[in-house]
Amino acid sequence: MAGAGTVHVIDHPLVQHKLSLMRNRETSTSTFRNLLSEISMLLAYEVCRDFPTTKIAIETPVAPMMAPVLDGKKICLISILRAGNGILDGMLKILPSARVGHIGLYRDPKTLLPVEYFYKVPDGMGDRDAIVVDPMLATGNSAVAAIARIKESAPRSIKFVCLLTCPEGIAVFQAAHPDIPIYTAAIDERLNEKSYIVPGLGDAGDRLFGTK
Ligand code: URA
Repeated sequence: MAGAGTVHVIDHPLVQHKLSLMRNRETSTSTFRNLLSEISMLLAYEVCRDFPTTKIAIETPVAPMMAPVLDGKKICLISILRAGNGILDGMLKILPSARVGHIGLYRDPKTLLPVEYFYKVPDGMGDRDAIVVDPMLATGNSAVAAIARIKESAPRSIKFVCLLTCPEGIAVFQAAHPDIPIYTAAIDERLNEKSYIVPGLGDAGDRLFGTK
């Protein structure tokens, strides 16, 4: 798989500017949501950089040509519920033909292990490039479990996209899935004792949906 085992930090000034606005505790729910949608478009742009294109015959107003196109129908975005849904909106603006899957996991209070409560992905995953999205790669536990489940459907390739991560999350993720590249807008300092990324942006789901 292209870019396997790597962490791509998308440090474009536009991404960093929007991320700083999102981090600010004064930013409203609606602005936070819009910013995540905008950043997701920019992340999608980078994530698709190495996707193969095929040529199709078209006619411009001036001449016929063989024009390169992305095989968008073969892309499957998979949201890790619930905050992953905040990334779908922007990515689907850039990849309107992509299919969409969802995976929901909660943490068992006794075992502290992720337990699946929802899983639905399109048919024919073997022909698709999966882009798994979750804004925060924090402890890494949900992402590791989600990717393990998605691997059962044997997609053509898998990439993991988040907005923010930290060294602890990357280490856990890469120990379990060294073959899967991570795309992120920033690697923050650390996790705190409540498993929040520091400095981070708080609870992405709550800020996205206004649930706190
Ligand atoms: N999930 C969040 O939403 N925020 C964090 O900082 C860590 C995990």
